[in-house]
Amino acid sequence: MNVRQCVEFVAQQFAAADLYYGHGTDNAWDEAVYLVFTVAGLPFGDDAAVADQLLDDVMQQRVEALTLRRIEERRPMAYLLQEAWFAGLPFHVDERVLIPRSPIAELVLNQFEPLLAAPPARILDLCTGSGCIGIAAALAFPEAKVDLSDIAPDALELAQRNIRRHGLGQRVATIESDLFAQLKGPYDLIIANPPYVSAQEVADLPPEYRHEPVGALLSEADGLDLPLAILRQAANLLTTHGVLVMEVGYSGPLLAARHPEFPVTWLAFEHGGEGVLAIAKADLASVQTATTVGPAAPKFVR
Ligand SMILES: C[S@@+](CC[C@H](N)C(=O)[O-])C[C@H]1O[C@@H](n2cnc3c(N)ncnc32)[C@H](O)[C@@H]1O
Repeated sequence: MNVRQCVEFVAQQFAAADLYYGHGTDNAWDEAVYLVFTVAGLPFGDDAAVADQLLDDVMQQRVEALTLRRIEERRPMAYLLQEAWFAGLPFHVDERVLIPRSPIAELVLNQFEPLLAAPPARILDLCTGSGCIGIAAALAFPEAKVDLSDIAPDALELAQRNIRRHGLGQRVATIESDLFAQLKGPYDLIIANPPYVSAQEVADLPPEYRHEPVGALLSEADGLDLPLAILRQAANLLTTHGVLVMEVGYSGPLLAARHPEFPVTWLAFEHGGEGVLAIAKADLASVQTATTVGPAAPKFVR
């Protein structure tokens, strides 16, 4: 079989199997390309000659075996291949971390234009998982020091592996922390993709999501617990002109409706995605002050 025939064959099987896509691809054909090209060690691109290249027996058998597992186990392809792409970069992934897919990739590639007054000297990737966002940010800002933090030590082990893979050991560190508890600012940019899925929504997710760590998806009550905690605390760790960028996905409308006190900007994406907000330290701090001080005390009247 050549590459084209193999992709067609796999795509047909995927299409017939009623799979759910959403972990890096959104259709059977792209999922088949992802599988066949990765197994064959081919670069993703428009090189037509690649399509006629022959796959050897070992490659074909591996493609067949992984096709079967993708269908029978409903395991996302990134876990089967142990590799995912984010902001044009490869990352090692396994079941310890969420599969990278945040639209924040587009912001990183655009160096967060026009949100930052100057290139950030210190960046925090809060809730880092595989480390994809912080590592991509470190490569986008070659002068920046970057902290990757997560509550899950096994996620941080994987993030460390990705730091080494991208040769960033000098500038990128991992810190185990429950949100900001163990972190020392100030940071010029805090980027966060925290869990924001409610328990009910987690229960209703397609089988593919059950292979992801529940601690990477679930945020208590209505999904807003962790995003709100971040909004309430981030000002303490930002520089004067610092900015928080946070993904809350489809919990965005609920957050906006219930908490209009946070003057956030909802960011637009050229390549798809939604539910990512930006807010400056000054705006976060003013909400913090208003809620700490509370309404003005009644004046004493004789
Ligand atoms: C949605 S995943 C994001 C992973 C990665 N940043 C990405 O975009 O692919 C959320 C991550 O937050 C971590 N997490 C959950 N609760 C946390 C907490 N209280 N403090 C810090 N990290 C937490 C999870 O372990 C998980 O790795």
